[in-house]
Amino acid sequence: MLTIENAKIVTNQELTRDYFVMTLNCPKISALARPGQFVNIHVLENTDPLLRRPISIYDIDKSKGTIKILYFIKGKGTNILKNKKEEEILSVTGPHGNGFVVHPDSKNILLVGGGFGTAPLAFLAKEIKEKNIFTAIGGRTKDLIFCEKDFKDSGAKVFISTEDGSYGEKGLVTENIIKILNQNKIDEIFTVGPSLMMKAIAEIAKKRNIPCHVSLEERMACGVGACYGCVCKTKKGYETVCTQGPVFDSGELEW
Ligand SMILES: Cc1cc2nc3c(=O)[nH]c(=O)nc-3n(C[C@H](O)[C@H](O)[C@H](O)COP(=O)(O)OP(=O)(O)OC[C@H]3O[C@@H](n4cnc5c(N)ncnc54)[C@H](O)[C@@H]3O)c2cc1C
Ligand code: FES
Repeated sequence: MLTIENAKIVTNQELTRDYFVMTLNCPKISALARPGQFVNIHVLENTDPLLRRPISIYDIDKSKGTIKILYFIKGKGTNILKNKKEEEILSVTGPHGNGFVVHPDSKNILLVGGGFGTAPLAFLAKEIKEKNIFTAIGGRTKDLIFCEKDFKDSGAKVFISTEDGSYGEKGLVTENIIKILNQNKIDEIFTVGPSLMMKAIAEIAKKRNIPCHVSLEERMACGVGACYGCVCKTKKGYETVCTQGPVFDSGELEW
């Protein structure tokens, strides 16, 4: 069920250059949210920018009625967001989208995140703590590796790679994936990050016959399945990322 709330900003802190974490008080959304879903934020009270900005839910605290988001400063909307102060109010709708569904029989889960894509996966790890979780996080450099502590707190085995070698293994996240898959029987893979990364993971998963779920990012307008501005091509035809996604089985997508 989708709801709209005037959410009070609890904190809005810079994590590293151009990346922020914001905590919002929105008890109705917090009560309903599942990992892999997102909120749509109206960054100003007036109409410029008119469209809400979709951001994944990074964490929830139902007892406090809060949600957390991790966002990158991309353009107009997120630049406005970064200057928002505690106690200010934002109009937020959510939770949007289908979210991740982990098969009940799956025991060993591999989560693969790049950039801010690690945030929804950290939320997933928290919700499936009883599973055996492997997490591979990739980034260009050390300060672009996010959520390591969240994954460790959820009991996940964490594998890090950076392109410049400043932290973890030097190289791409896919190299760590091969190692993990060679040494462990993985039942399902969930991945969020740059589309090239997700595509590479999907190809590896296909070769090894492992179900793989990817979370797509498309430009959005209405966010509720009405404008068809966010469609992606699947084997069943065009589907809306905002309502039928953002999570899709990688084998269903026409990449
Ligand atoms: C399901 C989903 C989850 C997302 N989760 C996160 C997240 O957790 N953290 C994060 O930093 N970003 C996330 N994004 C991307 C984020 O929505 C865009 O970076 C943001 O909308 C850019 O807005 P802007 O005004 O700063 O940039 P501008 O480029 O000025 O935006 C102009 C318009 O394009 C849209 N737009 C621009 N880039 C994107 C994009 N990559 N995806 C979708 N719409 C875009 C904006 O919503 C806006 O309507 C997510 C996107 C989707 C679809
Ligand atoms: S954003 Fe309008 S249909 Fe998805």
